[in-house]
Amino acid sequence: MTRKVLLAPSLLSADLLHVSRSIESLGDQYDWLHVDVMDGRFVPNITFGPAFVAALRKGYPGAFLDVHLMVEEPSGILDAFLDAGPDILTVHVEVEHHVHRTLGRIRERGVKAGISLNPGTSEELLRPLLPFIDHILVMSVNPGFGGQSFIEPVLEKTRQLCRWRTAGNHSWLIAMDGGLGLENAGRIARAGCDVLVMGSAIFGALDPAERVQEIKRRVKEAMTGA
Ligand code: DX5
Ligand code: ZN
Repeated sequence: MTRKVLLAPSLLSADLLHVSRSIESLGDQYDWLHVDVMDGRFVPNITFGPAFVAALRKGYPGAFLDVHLMVEEPSGILDAFLDAGPDILTVHVEVEHHVHRTLGRIRERGVKAGISLNPGTSEELLRPLLPFIDHILVMSVNPGFGGQSFIEPVLEKTRQLCRWRTAGNHSWLIAMDGGLGLENAGRIARAGCDVLVMGSAIFGALDPAERVQEIKRRVKEAMTGA
């Protein structure tokens, strides 16, 4: 049986004046909604806060909200984001002195705890944390902006994480974020990714729902070797 690969459109590339229209343009084709939180310090851009996540939760009670914190001091704003109702809350391994404690605080609230790493960060940093996480978000661009080019060597990180998952009998999911699109979705899924985060490739399309279907078709072909 082939693994199920999920698609997580990133709202960073949505129409910010009409976010709900962008979400509705996906029809029922998407699996998760990815929300990029940027603080202008960890990354050179500023985006959404907890009130935005709470509004999404209210407007789309059944949606699976995957919240990616690209912020310098996540522990200070963690409760506000937890209160907003995400399904996954992901922090970066590069920013947190006490990341183990932060992951514990997320799980205590019944939210899935995610950890992310930049392209220049070794996966070895995640090793002591592997039993304490539900989700790994591998960055395949330097975070901050949509529409950047995929950094190819991160695929090897995914393969290593898959080996560790099998060896340790872990059940976390592996997601990849940045520079994904029609051309590379298949081989990224084949390398072991369970979740494909995509912004510009989906919301930049004339028909986002049709684009998601096409991406899913390509992933299926790649997974079945067709
Ligand atoms: C990048 C963000 C991504 C972004 C991806 O800093 O974390 O989630 O939305 O955008 P694309 O798919 O356009 O590279
Ligand atoms: Zn992201």
